[in-house]
Amino acid sequence: MSTQHTGSPLAAPAEHAFDVSDPVTDAATDASSAAARDSAAAPTTSARSGWIPGTSAIRFGGDYNPEQWPRETWLEDIELMREAGVNLVSVGIFSWALIEPREGEYDFSFLDEVLDLLAGAGIDVDLGTPTTVPPAWFWKKYPQSRPVTREGVTLGFGSRGLVSPSSPEYRAASVAVASALAERYGSHPAVVLWHVHNEYGAPIGESYDDYSVLGFRRWLQDRYGSLEQLNSAWGTSFWGQRYGEWDEIDAPRQSASISNPAQRLDFKRFSSDALLACFIGERDAIRRHAPQPITTNFMATSCPSVDYWTWAREVDIVSNDHYLTAERDDNHVMLAMDADFTRSLAGGRPWILMEHSTSAVNWQPRNIAKRSGELARNSLSHVARGSDAVLFFQFRASRFGAEKFHSAMLPHAGTSSRTWREVVQLGSLLGAASSLRGSRVEASVAIVWSTESFWAQDLEWRPSVDLAHRERMEAFYTALWNLGVTVDYVHPSADLSGYAVVFAPSLYLLDDEGSSNLRGYVAGGGTLAVSYFSGIVSSNDDVPAGAYPGQLREVLGLSIEEFLPLKSGDTVGLSGATDAAWTGSVWSDAIVLEGATAVSSYVDGPAAGQPAITVNDSGDGSAWYLSTRLDGADLEGFVVDVLTSAGVAVQPPVVGLERVTRVADDGTRYTVVINHAETSASVGIEGTDLATGEPVAADAVVAGGAVRIIRESRH
Ligand code: GAL
Repeated sequence: MSTQHTGSPLAAPAEHAFDVSDPVTDAATDASSAAARDSAAAPTTSARSGWIPGTSAIRFGGDYNPEQWPRETWLEDIELMREAGVNLVSVGIFSWALIEPREGEYDFSFLDEVLDLLAGAGIDVDLGTPTTVPPAWFWKKYPQSRPVTREGVTLGFGSRGLVSPSSPEYRAASVAVASALAERYGSHPAVVLWHVHNEYGAPIGESYDDYSVLGFRRWLQDRYGSLEQLNSAWGTSFWGQRYGEWDEIDAPRQSASISNPAQRLDFKRFSSDALLACFIGERDAIRRHAPQPITTNFMATSCPSVDYWTWAREVDIVSNDHYLTAERDDNHVMLAMDADFTRSLAGGRPWILMEHSTSAVNWQPRNIAKRSGELARNSLSHVARGSDAVLFFQFRASRFGAEKFHSAMLPHAGTSSRTWREVVQLGSLLGAASSLRGSRVEASVAIVWSTESFWAQDLEWRPSVDLAHRERMEAFYTALWNLGVTVDYVHPSADLSGYAVVFAPSLYLLDDEGSSNLRGYVAGGGTLAVSYFSGIVSSNDDVPAGAYPGQLREVLGLSIEEFLPLKSGDTVGLSGATDAAWTGSVWSDAIVLEGATAVSSYVDGPAAGQPAITVNDSGDGSAWYLSTRLDGADLEGFVVDVLTSAGVAVQPPVVGLERVTRVADDGTRYTVVINHAETSASVGIEGTDLATGEPVAADAVVAGGAVRIIRESRH
């Protein structure tokens, strides 16, 4: 049903009217682009980049919300934190109403006391700016800052994470409170890190309020310069959408049929930049007063509204929140995928696991508790994949509010609980593993991750509803995880020269820079493997002239005459060079070879007799193309073929055994071994167990469900 916007998209809210005729020069409401882009251009890897100052131990702790408790509980908390080995807590994330009870009036007595107590106990603080929940007074005074959904619903107070990121009142108020905090606590002995806001983009990624519309127009002016360029980029000659004035442009709100996909894609880019400008505003305000590194907690693979490749350049240290989808049997594999992506965002540098859960969360359909040992397995998997911090949401379980059924380090059941015992054990294990801090994960295989491509692919009216970028990303990652291959993620324009193999499982949108980068990688000797429906459009969701896949035709040595998606549930057989008969589903293509060789063909289905899998030698490298969906063992077979062709050795995997190696600057190798299976397995490495200090032989075992951290004997 259409929910056509009836208010004027051109007018600013009455109380805060400003001239929209010259959007570019209206600095007061500069929504996003200038701040984000200027800052992106500046050398932001400042001297602050590096690691949290203070202890050389792995950081251990969690969100701490003492404002929910009386003072005597704080004292007990601190005692218990010491018992568990906690050395970092995130404080103040939801405390705006407490520290600024009336606009411009600050009351720091609560934070003063909490921070002094923590400092006295030797527990460091990651100080939050509380800007994810503006106080009630803010909403009363600035109701026009409320976000509006695509369907036109204006959201109300009483929750969190809701504000128009383009609201000038919000921008000013959030910068003011961040600045006041930094001024007061920039030299406090407890504060070692700043935590700006909380999970930008969740739950509101896009807002369709009037401020956002104004900001969008400015962002577009900055991007395109002229309406002529914009009309051409958006293909507005289609369906008669030509714009004659900037103030005719609206956000792509819910309309009668589907909206212009280029407009929607740009609105997603704008929205990510608008949120980023909020972060940059607070970050720069903090930097004026405080020397500690600054972060904001990402949700690496699970926040659809933010392009973290851009964001990662702006934080001093990358931090991430991860929650299992508890009902999935492979939730530990998805955890590993998230951790590998986070490390990649951090450019391989150590990162902070800012939040995860000790046991069940409270917001899934069925909140499954973690089984005994799962807490350590999950935490260690993040550490194995480069995190030098293990933090939880939250230290003490809340007795009231929306999250009272969420697990915590200290659950309602208190210190006699299994969870508490496992928390204390984990604290001690991490304490014993300090020496691996700062070491790096090495990977010779990469997967291309393009947020822009995912945004574009997930828009409406694609050739099949079964095309789902996330599904393919998970499938390829899972195949590599099962084979025991550690992977990095890369942006399409990243330097790929260090990788023996690069997989692009779902790369629908590829711009000129990305496609020439992939071509260059293959020409220089790399092995690229691309899955179907990739390289189809360029940056404005436009099909390049000629046959698909325009952006990859040359490197793959083929063209696609027609997409041949399959009916729901249909499968196709593949035969050819491989011994096994593989089964495809969802998709096939009518491929015309233009230099590539078919290594497998369709036995049946709409492309019967035509190529299914191809390889093209190009320059010193080669590029594979897989034109259908393979799953399970078939996909693993394909992945092994590609890896083997590039000389990447694949050891016979042990089911359920996760083994990742981190290498220190001096060459010391640390291997984290996590046994997700119920039966024991041999560790396969000689060295020293960091938990016990005992020597470990290669045939030593890691029991079912257990973890071991081994410093290898060989350098
Ligand atoms: C996170 C959020 C935390 C807490 C947690 C519960 O997304 O940052 O504040 O709500 O979820 O799982």
